[in-house]
Amino acid sequence: MLKLTPATKVLVLTGAGISAESGIRTFRDSGGLWENNRVEEVATPEAFSSNPIKVWEFYRQRYEDSISRKPNPAHFALVKLEHFLGDNFLLVTQNVDCLHLKAGSKRVLEMHGSLATCICTHCHSKLAIKDIDLTKYIPTCPFCNGVLRPDIVWFGEIPHYLSLIDDALRNCSIFLIVGTSGVVYPAAGFVLTAKLMGAKTIAINLEKPDNLSYIDEFYQGKSGEILPELVDKWING
Ligand code: OAD
Repeated sequence: MLKLTPATKVLVLTGAGISAESGIRTFRDSGGLWENNRVEEVATPEAFSSNPIKVWEFYRQRYEDSISRKPNPAHFALVKLEHFLGDNFLLVTQNVDCLHLKAGSKRVLEMHGSLATCICTHCHSKLAIKDIDLTKYIPTCPFCNGVLRPDIVWFGEIPHYLSLIDDALRNCSIFLIVGTSGVVYPAAGFVLTAKLMGAKTIAINLEKPDNLSYIDEFYQGKSGEILPELVDKWING
């Protein structure tokens, strides 16, 4: 059994599955967001150009749904791991639901953006959604009246923090993946870099992820049940 010390460098990647037990729908499971919505109609820059009202409606609903959602034991287990490791811990999330921050995680990179903020397409100001008038079909910037867009990395756009993430992948000893199907790149390819650079790769997921062949240790099941127990064992032995 793995035993961590405070000097072990651990990089964590999370996806929608970690928030499933908080009641947030994943993308690709049955009843998931992509079963009911066409990606190219709500999650691409082209969709926003051609139908901003529809795109805003999709993200407005997701934002409103996310407000009442609470972190689950898997999010809190990662907070515990971060307390133990300090600066040797880094959490990269593909999730935009803010649940890691709500749980108390501090060293978090939201590589696909956040539902809690939006960006002015004209003056590029970043604004908290809670301060924006969301009753307008297309919300506008309070500074320049430009069109606001959700602060989400859409398909065809480049995720945030890739250079920082690449450094962390090359320097971690443990790469832990939680709740992601392993189909969306570049995140799905992170495991290969970590493994080639000598990290031990561990994954927890309800179903086998697509990149399973690069995983050294796979735990199949719900992260809210598996992760708290694993973190306790890794820290306390
Ligand atoms: P997916 O919906 O593709 O995958 C979620 C994974 O979580 C699935 O493999 C499930 O088996 C697993 N899962 C479900 N419930 C779980 C639980 N309780 N515990 C553990 N695992 C569970 O979501 P992501 O992999 O996060 O991007 O998707 C990656 C990206 O694709 C998203 O960030 C989003 C999406 O399109 C953008 O919107 C840009």
